Amino acid sequence: MIDKIYCVDVQPDMEGKRVKLAGWVYRKREVGKKVFIVLRDSSGIIQAIFKKELSEEAYEKAKKAGIESSVIIEGTVRADPRAPTGVEIQADRIEIVQNVDFFPITKDASEEFLLDVRHLHLHSPKVATIMKVKATMMQAAREWLLQDGWYEVFPPILVTGAVEGGATLFKLKYFDRTAYLSQSAQLYLEAAIFGLEKVWSLTPSFRAEKSRTRRHLTEFWHLELEAAWMDLWDIMKVEEELVSYMVQRTLELRKSEVETFRKDLTTLKNAVPPFPRVSYDEAIDILQSKGVEIEWGEDMGADEERILTQEFEAPFFVYGYPKGIKAFYMKEDPEDPRKVLAADMLAPEGYGEIIGGSQREDDYNKLVQRILEEGMKPEDYGWYLDLRKYGSVPHSGFGLGLERLVAWVLKLDHVRWATLFPRTPSRLYP
Ligand code: 4AD
Repeated sequence: MIDKIYCVDVQPDMEGKRVKLAGWVYRKREVGKKVFIVLRDSSGIIQAIFKKELSEEAYEKAKKAGIESSVIIEGTVRADPRAPTGVEIQADRIEIVQNVDFFPITKDASEEFLLDVRHLHLHSPKVATIMKVKATMMQAAREWLLQDGWYEVFPPILVTGAVEGGATLFKLKYFDRTAYLSQSAQLYLEAAIFGLEKVWSLTPSFRAEKSRTRRHLTEFWHLELEAAWMDLWDIMKVEEELVSYMVQRTLELRKSEVETFRKDLTTLKNAVPPFPRVSYDEAIDILQSKGVEIEWGEDMGADEERILTQEFEAPFFVYGYPKGIKAFYMKEDPEDPRKVLAADMLAPEGYGEIIGGSQREDDYNKLVQRILEEGMKPEDYGWYLDLRKYGSVPHSGFGLGLERLVAWVLKLDHVRWATLFPRTPSRLYP
């Protein structure tokens, strides 16, 4: 590890102090007998000036350093209001760790090209800012989960069956058997509540979704919670508290980063409990009153959700969905058997669903019946059904798509920008 300081730590009050920095050449220009290099590291940028009269050797080397070359720069700090950060380095030494003659990404690169060279796109401070916000949101989630008494668990990714329908399963050869990549840790979290009561996990989840929308990836990071003794209304409170904490804490720790992506913070600041709650019936009425052709019993797609979000200035819940459009494990509403005790959380500003959650069917016979109704085989869910035979309890849980939450918070036009190396039907490389 070299003994260096970060760009962000170079402050005007360090005038005259000698410093060493390491990073990449972000911008470069030559003016007369001076070379200006804007150095970039993970913390930000700083300008370094190489004057020929100060060190001819350093000046000549700096002249040769191409954009995105890795360099180590030494010099003295000088406050200068004209510099991008109000302070700069009068540099007298530069070590070019690796020179780059030509960096493949230029200003006019298309989005497709940026995705083709995503491994190099990660040099971009803009991409780094998204990743910092994503990391901070998970840090906030961990803080909340810890203080609210949830245990982190580590469920399997190689699984034998579907949670969210067979159509989106990725199949793979597992020695002489068939296995699948997990769509959701939910069924395993349900097993874990019998020992730990309140559990959560963060795992990659996989969906062989052919749909090319701005909110679908084939691999995404799934934050899932499951709790014993909670009904749908209890778990909705957990959802809004968690999401609110993630958003408000991120605004506290990374306001300036968020503001580089969105000037208006209103909907983020509005994300405080209680979030508005709309029944599915009311949602259908709202949509119909706006001329959308949708009937009771039909699922809301991205378009319908987008129209619905126009009614709200904060995240909100839609609850009480018809049974026919929801998963087999959701508990039937005892007051209306046409419905299940399920709620989705939708983000405003057109983003739509960020959380899917429900109370789970805890009755053995009813669950067997639901599995049969869905055309599945109860014997494929043997261990899951066992959970309803040995000390079954009312329980609820949900899953939050981390990329979808980040996409809304930063107003990104596609969830792929919220992931390090996006996976979509057409993209598996790099
Ligand atoms: O609504 P989903 O499919 O629910 C489940 O998987 C439940 N088993 C979770 C649970 O109760 N433990 O997915 C949950 C969330 C969605 O609201 C969405 O945010 C995200 O996961 N998600 C996706 N994100 C990106 N790309 C995809 N293809 C996604 N599919 C779901």
